[in-house]
Amino acid sequence: MTATTSIHGMWSTRMAFILAATGSAVGLGNIWRFPYTAGEYGGGAFVLVYLICVAAIGIPIMMAEIMLGRRGRQSPINTMRLLATQEGRSPAWQLLGWMGIVAGFLILSFYSVVAGWTMAYVFRAAGGAFAGVDAETVSLMFGQFIADPEALLAWHSIFMVMSVAVVARGVANGLESSVRFMMPALFLLLVAMVGYAMTSGHFVEGATYLFRPDFSKLGTEGILSAMGQAFFSLSLGMGAIMVYGSYLNSRSSIATSVVIIAGTDTLVAILAGLAIFPLVFANDLAPQLGSGMVFKVLPIAFGQMPGGQFFGTLFFLLLVFAAWTSAISLLEPMVAWLVENRGFSRVRAAMLAGVAVWLLGIASLLSLNLWSDLTLFGLGFMDLCEFVAANVMLPLGGVLIAIFAGWMLARSSSIDELRLGDGVGYRLWWLLIRYVAPIAVAIVLLNAVGLLKL
Ligand code: PHE
Repeated sequence: MTATTSIHGMWSTRMAFILAATGSAVGLGNIWRFPYTAGEYGGGAFVLVYLICVAAIGIPIMMAEIMLGRRGRQSPINTMRLLATQEGRSPAWQLLGWMGIVAGFLILSFYSVVAGWTMAYVFRAAGGAFAGVDAETVSLMFGQFIADPEALLAWHSIFMVMSVAVVARGVANGLESSVRFMMPALFLLLVAMVGYAMTSGHFVEGATYLFRPDFSKLGTEGILSAMGQAFFSLSLGMGAIMVYGSYLNSRSSIATSVVIIAGTDTLVAILAGLAIFPLVFANDLAPQLGSGMVFKVLPIAFGQMPGGQFFGTLFFLLLVFAAWTSAISLLEPMVAWLVENRGFSRVRAAMLAGVAVWLLGIASLLSLNLWSDLTLFGLGFMDLCEFVAANVMLPLGGVLIAIFAGWMLARSSSIDELRLGDGVGYRLWWLLIRYVAPIAVAIVLLNAVGLLKL
């Protein structure tokens, strides 16, 4: 027997689910992380591997996550335990849910800090701080900003309070309208920014950088990062999409929803790349600008374009909203579990989870300034959290989800849940989830730790 509703509430319509899941997927990952990681690994080859990962690994795994969530109708930990027991498998599969909680915890801790940067930049843009600035000045401005732990702490705290506030009310209330209007607005603004980039005189150079593969710059770590970026950007491998799936009604088509969600997410990332790289070249900057890239590049454009003060403010504001709707999904698996297993009210659960994440985030923001000398494997705390969570934990969670959905769950159960019949679509999913996704992720992970030479 599978439950038809969740105790945490349900999405009112399939559209509400698509909006929420797209809200989770589209965020800092697309606009902040994608351009700078692509720049770090040489552009085109990274983008190509990323796109292949989205299509061949991300889409089938997203279908699997939603399917498992909807069948379990509980937090990822309890969903995995329930489904494993139902299928006669070991209850240890719930560890997958636990790993997701840890990954979500790590991700949100630094994500909130970066969302804080975005909030600070709303005010800078509105106050006219970018008027006529050159590349050097913006870069200096960013450097000074992240050197100030108090400012970072204030913004990080505000963002965490905002995220807790929404999760405390329940994700099905309060999220829908913000995604419905903000997302299309962000999209249009990005298109306009790409239009502006076309006037920079370096558009072709930027686009070529993004799309012409040069494998010499990619390397093992580049492949790992491209795969990690696909998981991160699609919100996969940690239970966020699974928990959102658990609030989806039983009739809705999973496959169509996934194509819309993943397609939008990928398009937004590509648009962000097309808006930023031409400006990188137009201002004689190197693509290896690091995690400050958007903050070091776009303000130059806002400082020059007509109406830049308005567009800059709007852009950073919409980015805050995009980050907000992602942060909520990072908290939800933890909160759902606290409500189910500890009997907490949503408000209490959200506050508890929020405080824990907030504390960890302080370590991240201090690693940018006071603790910048403390490194492990050459990475500061924030970069380490990002690397481990995105490139190791999410893909690992993804492989386990693929193995569970493809090998542990009875074929009849997935046929029943995906509602694609037993036709070409289902068989393609079956092939991808059973063989392609787990083998590809395993090869990349093993190659990265040096256990396998590509
Ligand atoms: N996908 C979000 C982004 O791109 C981040 C995220 C990762 C959200 C994992 C939930 C789970 O910004």
